Parts: sequence; structure tokens; C-alpha cells
Amino acid sequence: MGRLDGKAAIVTGGTDGIGYAIVKRLLDEGTSVLFCGRSQDRGDAALARLGSDRARFMVTDVAEEAEVEALIAGAVEHFGKLDIIVNNAAVAAVALIEEHSTEAWRRSNAVNYDSVFFASRAAIPHLRKTKGTIINIASISGLGGEGAYPSYSAQKGAVIQLTRAMAVYHAREGIRINAICPGFIETPATDAFKALPDLLESWIEGIPAQRPGQPEEIASVVAFLASDDASFMHGSIVVADGGVSASSGQPTQVPLG
Ligand SMILES: NC(=O)c1ccc[n+]([C@@H]2O[C@H](COP(=O)([O-])OP(=O)(O)OC[C@H]3O[C@@H](n4cnc5c(N)ncnc54)[C@H](O)[C@@H]3O)[C@@H](O)[C@H]2O)c1
Repeated sequence: MGRLDGKAAIVTGGTDGIGYAIVKRLLDEGTSVLFCGRSQDRGDAALARLGSDRARFMVTDVAEEAEVEALIAGAVEHFGKLDIIVNNAAVAAVALIEEHSTEAWRRSNAVNYDSVFFASRAAIPHLRKTKGTIINIASISGLGGEGAYPSYSAQKGAVIQLTRAMAVYHAREGIRINAICPGFIETPATDAFKALPDLLESWIEGIPAQRPGQPEEIASVVAFLASDDASFMHGSIVVADGGVSASSGQPTQVPLG
């Protein structure tokens, strides 16, 4: 028996990385999960790895309003209800503002921020019936300014603020809406840094826990927030970053006497 037995969930961007770990954890907790991504092949590969008859996949580009609406309608049609939606899919456009193309700005805005709006608007009528929950995967890049990824930083900041604003109203209806801010987590999205060992070393040096996080360490926070153990949590922004955002940024190796 899992903590989330009999629940029905949607996870966006569930074929790889953190999203895949979330799908797996929700299945392990007893939930039925419809997850999405842009490629049927990657969806089929993820389904094969998961090996669960409670998992389903649907090709969806979360930047497209109609596709997100079809995803939510598909879950309700198949499961008969919706209890949990995890807005996880995102992309990071690495470009300083003066070098940022308008096209990449608009595309990343649509994937990272518009998608949360589309999914929330379509899901809320169903979540009202189940007293369900929305969990948005934001980032610590949305808490502090991220020099190398200004668009991503701003979009994640917007996701955090949308989370709070929606949570404040919908709490009275029993819908809980929270966000998670991961720090550096090892996923396909961060694999590119392995080719930059000096950068990677100094990055990890700056993490108080002295290591990157694993996707399962975010999935476990999702399982908690989705469960009744988090029943009084509305609009919480939960950080899981190995201590990065707790730091003042001052060096820790000071002489102590
Ligand atoms: N990895 C990290 O260090 C880290 C840190 C902070 C926050 N996050 C956040 O965690 C979430 C997952 O990140 P990750 O590292 O696992 O990324 P990832 O790139 O490994 O996985 C992202 C998933 O989203 C999917 N996706 C991307 N664009 C999509 C679209 N338009 N429509 C549908 N699916 C789409 C991808 O196919 C993939 O399955 C993201 O919201 C990311 O911003 C990650």
C-alpha cells in the first residue's frame, strides 16, 4: 500500500531526468500516471523502463495550449478524475540578454511559464472535485538572479509567484498548490557540464552538501507534497538544493582562532 493509492496524476516532461523519477515515485506510491513529452519513441522507452500498467504516455508539447488541454482531458477521460498535476517540463535558454533571440525568448517563455498557466487553467475545475493538488517544479534560479540564464531565471521566478497567487485563492476550495525549487540535480539537462570539469568542480565546491542532487531527491519531495502529510501546505516554495540558497555567499573556510 502506497501513500497515494488510487490517485490519478499528470506529470509533464516525464520521459527523462527529474520528471521520470517523479513518474516512477508516484507509481511506487500507488498512483496512476499520465506523463507527457514531445517524442513517442522516448515515451515508449520510458514506459518500457517503468513496466507498470498504471503508467500512460501522451505526446504533448507543453508550449501549445490545445495540446496541454488535450493532455488534461485525456487524463480525466482515462482515469475518471484528476488528483495531482506536476508541471515539470522546462528548457533553459543559455544566453545573455543582449544576445538573446526573440524567438528563443518566446519559446522558452511558452515552455517554462505559459505551460503552467495552460495546465492550471484546465486542471483546476477537475482538482476542485477531488480536492487535488498542483506541484510546480521551479528552481533556485527563480529565487535569486541567474547571471548566465536570465530568461530561465525570470520564468522560474514567475512560476514561483504564480504558484503563490493561485494557492492563496484556491486554498479555500481545498486545492493545494506548491512549488519545489531544486538546486543542481544530475539529469540529461546538466550532463553537458561534464564536458567542463573546471566549472563542474567549482560549482560543486559551492554546494554546502558538496555534491549534486539526484532526481529521486526531488521526486521524494513531490511524493510528500502530493500526500496528506502536506495537508496544511498552501503556496509553499520548498527548496531542495544541498544548502546553496541558505548560504550568504561568503566563504566558509574562515580561520576560527
Ligand atoms: N537539473 C537541474 O539541475 C534542475 C535544477 C533546478 C530546476 N530544474 C527543473 O526541473 C525540471 C526538470 O529538469 P531536468 O533537469 O530533469 O530536465 P531534462 O531536460 O532532463 O528533462 C526535461 C523534460 O521535459 C521535457 N520537455 C522539454 N520541453 C518540453 C515541451 N515543450 N513539452 C513537453 N515536454 C518537454 C523533456 O523532454 C524532458 O523529458 C525542469 O522544470 C527544470 O527547470 C532542474
